[in-house]
Amino acid sequence: MTVKTLSVVDSRMTAEAEVVIDFRDVVARFGSFHAMGPTNLSVRRGEFLAIVGPSGCGKSTLLNMVAGTLEPAEGSVLYKGKQVKNLNHDVGYITQKNFCLPWRTVEANVRLPLEFRKFSKDEMQLRVRNALKKVGLKGFEKAYPKQLSGGMLQRVMIARTLAYSPDIYLMDEPFGSLDAQLRMRMHDELLKLWQETGATFVFVTHDLHEAITLADRVVVMSKRPGRPKLIVDIELDRPRDVVAIQADPAFGVYFKQLWAALDVQ
Ligand SMILES: Nc1ncnc2c1ncn2[C@@H]1O[C@H](COP(=O)(O)OP(=O)(O)OP(=O)(O)O)[C@@H](O)[C@H]1O
Ligand SMILES: [Mg+2]
Repeated sequence: MTVKTLSVVDSRMTAEAEVVIDFRDVVARFGSFHAMGPTNLSVRRGEFLAIVGPSGCGKSTLLNMVAGTLEPAEGSVLYKGKQVKNLNHDVGYITQKNFCLPWRTVEANVRLPLEFRKFSKDEMQLRVRNALKKVGLKGFEKAYPKQLSGGMLQRVMIARTLAYSPDIYLMDEPFGSLDAQLRMRMHDELLKLWQETGATFVFVTHDLHEAITLADRVVVMSKRPGRPKLIVDIELDRPRDVVAIQADPAFGVYFKQLWAALDVQ
């Protein structure tokens, strides 16, 4: 097989693909500390983009800038052609530090963003039920966060985002705390969700298997101050079977190529 590699950093080569997120010469600094960039990267509408790179290279920083919680020190981040200046309410953001409100039940936690968005009562009920079913938490609607394991809490956070069907999902190592089997089940669910919704996913992970299984493109960031050093198109057939895909010879070729580019510390 041939593996198509784009070593160029800027991917704005397909004029017809609509760019929804555009990082233009973006630099992140915290005081005099140069954390990330300069980064140039375009995310196309409807694509599943995975970002990998060593700890501290600026992956979460990139997502924070799309969500509007952090401003670039230099350059600009465009969302649907406009510079992100305030909190971006179009995105669903599952961070590394999400938390449930302890005084609310599971279903009330999932319902929270729907209440902000003023959905009708029936619509809320339907969405909450469907979202909890999708993440395998049917039957835990009335449970309180303290009664759940870490992995279950993470799934509540995912359900909370699914429930309001954002255009863009920003996911920061969302499955890091799940066991291997559950992680694969979540991959399967996530691929279905991506297919059903046509939403755009930007997915940060340390796990190359996860990145290859899910993504259309994988961006490898260099070590801090991180910038994209390699972008690989993952041309494995869709829909993907999360188990069978690992036996595909191309999977191993992608893995080796990405691994070689990672600056493992
Ligand atoms: N609010 C902040 N104040 C100061 N430094 C920060 C802040 N946020 C991030 N940093 C620093 O910026 C760099 C990039 O951080 P970031 O969290 O984006 O890394 P990351 O690639 O997501 O790492 P990890 O894989 O460990 O989650 C790190 O060196 C981090 O210590
Ligand atoms: Mg991070």
